Amino acid sequence: MTITFVGHGYVGLVSAAVFADLGNTVWVIGHTPEKIENLKKGIIPIYEPGLEELVKRNVKAKRLLFTLDYKPSVPSSDAVFIAVGTPPKDSGEADLSVVFDVAEKIGKHLSGYTVIATKSTVPVGTNKKILEIITKVKPLKATFDVASIPEFLREGQAISDTRHPDRVVIGIDSEKAREVMLALHSPIESVQVLTTIETAEMIKYASNAFLATKISYANAIANLSENVGADGTKVLEGIGYDARIGKSFLNAGAGYGGSCFPKDVKALIAIAKQHGYDFSLLHEVEAINKHMMLSLVKKAEKMLKHDVKGKTIAVLGLSFKPDTDDMRDAPSLVIINQLTAKGAKIKAYDPIAMGNAKRILAGSGLSFASDLYSCVADADLMILVTEWDEFREIDLQKLKKLMKSPLVIDGRNVYDPAKMRELGFSYIGVGR
Ligand SMILES: NC(=O)c1ccc[n+]([C@@H]2O[C@H](COP(=O)([O-])OP(=O)(O)OC[C@H]3O[C@@H](n4cnc5c(N)ncnc54)[C@H](O)[C@@H]3O)[C@@H](O)[C@H]2O)c1
Repeated sequence: MTITFVGHGYVGLVSAAVFADLGNTVWVIGHTPEKIENLKKGIIPIYEPGLEELVKRNVKAKRLLFTLDYKPSVPSSDAVFIAVGTPPKDSGEADLSVVFDVAEKIGKHLSGYTVIATKSTVPVGTNKKILEIITKVKPLKATFDVASIPEFLREGQAISDTRHPDRVVIGIDSEKAREVMLALHSPIESVQVLTTIETAEMIKYASNAFLATKISYANAIANLSENVGADGTKVLEGIGYDARIGKSFLNAGAGYGGSCFPKDVKALIAIAKQHGYDFSLLHEVEAINKHMMLSLVKKAEKMLKHDVKGKTIAVLGLSFKPDTDDMRDAPSLVIINQLTAKGAKIKAYDPIAMGNAKRILAGSGLSFASDLYSCVADADLMILVTEWDEFREIDLQKLKKLMKSPLVIDGRNVYDPAKMRELGFSYIGVGR
């Protein structure tokens, strides 16, 4: 099959590379000349484990093609996927301006029969609007259907998630479009949820909001455990063995971040409001999440005896989670900004996200260390915010020798509290 992806971010580029690797001819449309030129050489604009190699292999095989133009790709495609960003507006609603702009451009270039599928996370009703937009601008003879194929990949393991998803949701209202999508997805072994467009659109938000809720629930239990003198990590382990609950997403920590959960929770609250439903549960999910980030700041103040001004704090981990360079809505940003405002000198280090972090935090007055040990050297306090493997393997004796004072806040419960105390650290985790 010949297919096109518009957008070459975490979703567009990974999906395009995987479908190319399955033997399809895949076009990727971007809008930044420099990025498209780099992609043609196999240089990718994001960090995702294994992706550069996959892109290079398929570029070389001429199955993966990059362009700024809709002309060479859309008319020859059986399906065109929209995979552009849908960031939140101030109101919390998803900003769909790029989705609609791209839909219009696709529509103008249609030829023959094409399925236009949305991979971007979009509110219920968006695909209906895309259908209206394309109907207005498409060439007379061209025919098309729209589809909602929401994406569930996780950054950091996006390639394997795309090859082996828990499920593929296919929201389609036409038999012809269903045939195209089933044929395209046939090499991907997975449960298929065949449903209407509206249901598929809703599944994506319901799924992300549930995961965010599970994280906030785990964090609330951890907070309470701390207050009553229980070990929150054991409590969560104990409930996670219940098959009805499950262990995943049941860890206490610095809170969720990233480009999806925060914006999708906000968007679902906005969708509910537009339809007269107050989704108060999700307001609380957001409040608990914010509290988790701020509680690490409070713990830092407490450890430094409320004398944060001028103290050097080493922050380990900046991306919103390990194995990605994505800094969008990362808890580290809130923590760093709060501590900087209180007069702390921040030294930060991340194995992969330093480039993005430097751009986002430019002018915030913090310094960046080139490696883990130079980050913690002479620090009055260390805060672990993102649980990269490199930090799990830290030489604790060396850490203690390098730090000015052995104060550690473990925002992801990576270290063993008993061992830390035995080594002479003052140690605080989350919920224990
Ligand atoms: N990142 C994830 O883990 C993930 C998972 C599932 C779903 N999603 C959803 O998928 C969508 C894309 O997310 P992402 O993380 O890949 O975003 P991203 O920011 O990494 O990528 C967006 C892409 O769109 C491109 N783009 C923007 N404007 C464009 C235009 N006018 N024409 C052509 N391309 C344009 C950008 O250059 C970029 O390549 C979002 O709706 C997101 O919620 C993301």
